[in-house]
Amino acid sequence: MAILPILSYPHPHLRKKAKPVEVFDASLAQLIEDLFETMYADGGVGLAATQTDIHWRVLTVDPMENNERQPFYLVNPEVIEREGTMLSPEGCLSVPGAYDKITRSQRIKVRAVDKHGKAFEIDESGYRAAIIQHEIDHLDGKLFIDYLSSMKRERVRKHIAELSQEKKA
Ligand code: NI
Repeated sequence: MAILPILSYPHPHLRKKAKPVEVFDASLAQLIEDLFETMYADGGVGLAATQTDIHWRVLTVDPMENNERQPFYLVNPEVIEREGTMLSPEGCLSVPGAYDKITRSQRIKVRAVDKHGKAFEIDESGYRAAIIQHEIDHLDGKLFIDYLSSMKRERVRKHIAELSQEKKA
């Protein structure tokens, strides 16, 4: 297992569209384990492979509701049904220090495969549905701040630039 480095906005690789997984081998199983380890190490509730500069359609989630681990992962996830909308308060390991409310679908049905390539469907709503939508966006090169006004996004960009200046100093 390994903790992978996470790309920070505005790294251009966060804009890459990840490719569907076609080979279901030990390296896929390893990637899933590494994403879980990285996600837990950084205190995230979700992580997409894209954020670790690996551009395959794989994501891990653990909403950590009631302080209990409920890990699951999705390979090649696809939203096949959406219902309703909700305001979702979000942050992102790749956009440190930024938190805001954006609009997400309230309920989604997702088709995905497991690490052996076996297809399944899940129905999720609320917080869990928001995390899945956030992570699928990453696989498409999209960030939650893309939904904010350009003024708010500019503020986030400046804030992150200041943080990286402090790190260098
Ligand atoms: Ni994120």
